Amino acid sequence: MAFLSQTPKQLPPPEQLPQHIGFIMDGNGRWAKKRGLPRKFGHREGAKTFKKIVRYCRNLGIRYISFYAFSTENWKRPEDEVNAIMKLFDQYIDDVRGFFDEETRMVFLGDKSKFTDSLQKKMYALEADTAHYDQMTLMIAANYGGRDEIAHAARALAEQVKAGTLNPEDITEDSVSANLYTAGIPDVDLLIRPSGELRLSNYLIWQTAYAEFYFTDVLWPDFDEKQLDCALIDFASRNRRFGGV
Ligand code: FPP
Repeated sequence: MAFLSQTPKQLPPPEQLPQHIGFIMDGNGRWAKKRGLPRKFGHREGAKTFKKIVRYCRNLGIRYISFYAFSTENWKRPEDEVNAIMKLFDQYIDDVRGFFDEETRMVFLGDKSKFTDSLQKKMYALEADTAHYDQMTLMIAANYGGRDEIAHAARALAEQVKAGTLNPEDITEDSVSANLYTAGIPDVDLLIRPSGELRLSNYLIWQTAYAEFYFTDVLWPDFDEKQLDCALIDFASRNRRFGGV
């Protein structure tokens, strides 16, 4: 597989930038392994990249960014690694109060009920405290799975049918979208996956129906502003037809 050039040129004008960028933060474990370190060190480094990329997107004026941080399947990993990721979430929520004056709305995508009570409370509080900001929406997918999300939406719609408030014939793409964790948020325009893996891994499978994909073999902890510039330049050159001609 030949990957795209890693030399950024001129950034496209704002109107040619994506409205919603999704990131699959992959390659942390391999980054650590290459250095003879435990995997959790890779996640710690990955969290630094996450913060750097959030700030850069904010400066570029990107309105919606989402990050795949922990999947519904990631609970199968060793306890030490899972605990390290939970700690990074917890620390980040404590630190992120600094974003408030940058008018960033925070949303956690996924089923929060599996997290500790204390982490759940912090997640809900951060969402509530930032709900009125509209400059940028930052989504962190945690205990998230695309199929799980669609099943969750189907159950919500079925409950409405059972309660007599919805007719089955009125179930549309819009009503399904409105019952996803991303309700009200535009679909992904550009999906970026580093680390050389060429798959979606159950990330925002509904919302990426017409997304443009950008793959690079750089590992997530090494992903930086220049890599993102390359992806944005490439995105601007795509001819998006959404099924038309
Ligand atoms: C995938 O790489 C990465 C994860 C499962 C965890 C990502 C989590 C973070 C970067 C921490 C995020 C923190 C905040 C505050 C959002 P991998 O471990 O599967 O890498 P590998 O394929 O090289 O093993």
